[in-house]
Amino acid sequence: MGNLSHLECARCAKQFEPGKIYNLCPCGGPLFVRYDLHRVRAILPGPDGLNSQPPTLWRYRPVLPVTHDSSIVSMGEGFTPLVHAARLSEKLGLPNLYFKDESRNPTGSFKARGLSVALSMARELGIKKVAIPSAGNAAGALAAYAGRAGLEAAVFMPEDTPLANRLECALLGAEVVFVPGSIKDCGQLLRERGGAWFDMSTLREPYRVEGKKTMAYEIFEQLGGRVPDVIVYPTGGGTGLIGMWKGFEEMEHLGWIGTARPRMFAVQATGCAPIVRAFAGGAERGEEWLRPETVAAGLRVPAAIGDFLMLRVLRESRGLALAVEDRAMLDGVKEFAETEGLVTSPEGGATLAALKRLLADGFLSGYETVVLLLTATGYKYLEVLEALQHPRKI
Ligand SMILES: Cc1ncc(COP(=O)(O)O)c(C=O)c1O
Ligand SMILES: [Zn+2]
Repeated sequence: MGNLSHLECARCAKQFEPGKIYNLCPCGGPLFVRYDLHRVRAILPGPDGLNSQPPTLWRYRPVLPVTHDSSIVSMGEGFTPLVHAARLSEKLGLPNLYFKDESRNPTGSFKARGLSVALSMARELGIKKVAIPSAGNAAGALAAYAGRAGLEAAVFMPEDTPLANRLECALLGAEVVFVPGSIKDCGQLLRERGGAWFDMSTLREPYRVEGKKTMAYEIFEQLGGRVPDVIVYPTGGGTGLIGMWKGFEEMEHLGWIGTARPRMFAVQATGCAPIVRAFAGGAERGEEWLRPETVAAGLRVPAAIGDFLMLRVLRESRGLALAVEDRAMLDGVKEFAETEGLVTSPEGGATLAALKRLLADGFLSGYETVVLLLTATGYKYLEVLEALQHPRKI
């Protein structure tokens, strides 16, 4: 039995009964899952109770939306290592610097989290055909989990999506549609042509964010029951940022933590920074970024349906949004490889570039516990890594 109580619109607070298929609220707001946290608190009084649970995100099953175990589609996603960045810590004068290595997820990125939970719910609700607009990593994860669940999948990707993502989707049996333009154009085409395909776009279905929120539970557990002071997150559609914030809120209701929260820092690319612009302008919503350009495919998101939620999180947490150049991201990729032995993606490199800026600009003192979210493996970005060896090509 699950502990799901109802769904609730993040914009107008209208409530919806569980067990039905939903996309957005009629007002256009995303729906969030709400749990009976009093009941969860009784069965799971603290993180100590998790010791015997599997080393996957399903260890947090009491705060996940699935009702029947038989619905779960899992390949061991989540509970990725939180690694102390020993050499970088020393170099930067930041002794408590950690990175969360999301490359260890099936399909090599943190998108596996959201899609494991979303496909489990799709199976539970009897959905047969699922589709997604994606910059690449979410498409690969959808194709993998849908295949495993025996569902049909279609992915709508920009033409210039990294080769690895294009190949894996075809190999995993998804119908692949290449679209000129960005992920926003992919989403539009899916909604025009999608017909019977259930739309799995970021925040347009309620369950991907539930998978992403487990990053907050894990960070807390892996720090020995502590909330970090700072989280740096490469931000596109924002599910991770919004999900982690939801996770911390739930942990407070569960009595695991108090009111303290990490400062949340959103990193975007200078070539596509709608949230940075909206944050700096004091706006409540973002405006579409025209001609988005960056080597970090996952950050090429010109407009996000959850922009108002991200901006709220950044302000409530006393964090901020900042943009970094592609060159600085790639320097970050190189430095991670040279100092920590890890081949991360440009989005991961962006977190290091952002951290250096935050230190240089005096936003951090050096005493904080900082977690960088390294959201995907660099091995899926071979074109970018090759260009890194031959800088003239960039
Ligand atoms: C590697 C990587 N990092 C970060 C992101 C941004 O994630 P979100 O849409 O949750 O902000 C993506 C999205 O495609 C991604 O693939
Ligand atoms: Zn609503």
